[in-house]
Amino acid sequence: MRKLLFLLLPLLMPAQYNLGRPATPAEIQTADITVLPDGTGLPVGHGNAVAGEVIYKSRCAVCHGPKGEGRKNEYPALVGGKGTLATPKPVKTVGSYWPYTTTVWDHINRAMPFNTPRILPPNDVYSVTAFILYLNGIVTRDQQLTEKTMPKIVMPNRDGFVPDSRPDIKAHR
Ligand code: HEC
Repeated sequence: MRKLLFLLLPLLMPAQYNLGRPATPAEIQTADITVLPDGTGLPVGHGNAVAGEVIYKSRCAVCHGPKGEGRKNEYPALVGGKGTLATPKPVKTVGSYWPYTTTVWDHINRAMPFNTPRILPPNDVYSVTAFILYLNGIVTRDQQLTEKTMPKIVMPNRDGFVPDSRPDIKAHR
């Protein structure tokens, strides 16, 4: 009996629920914010660590600490950990672990500040990304990051990832 009901159920359901409406191109555009490792998807913009420091102090330092040191067991450090990845106590930060500058940009743009995400305009995201890279010794204080220059910056752990070699995992690279 139960089996029969399962078979009949699709026939009893309406073809359309007449709920909602298709998303408008503008709505899709606001959700379409993914930035790829090679920089595809980055908006035109620019910023450096000098400008980024001001934004960082007012919007990020409260959680991540004035120098990006984080708060133990609460908020992640954004700086440090260099040379620790292959040790028994790896410290994974933007500086030591993240392979692409563009992913840092994407993560800040979509998720930070944690309590009010997506409030930073593109230039502020470039600036604050520059400041974090500066704290990690990856760029200089006045180095301008743009949608063209930022993807070319090579992060320290750029080649630290290896494809999963297990035969049942189809890893693409
Ligand atoms: C209210 C606290 C808070 C504020 C303010 C905040 N963050 Fe975060 N941040 C977090 C938390 C919690 C995480 C871990 C969860 C996550 O990555 O989404 C995080 C993660 C991050 C990461 C990823 C770190 C990693 O290695 O995984 C970056 C980069 C970052 N924040 C940058 C920023 C920047 C830049 C700002 C300011 C524009 C900012 N955050 C403001 C709480 C905060």
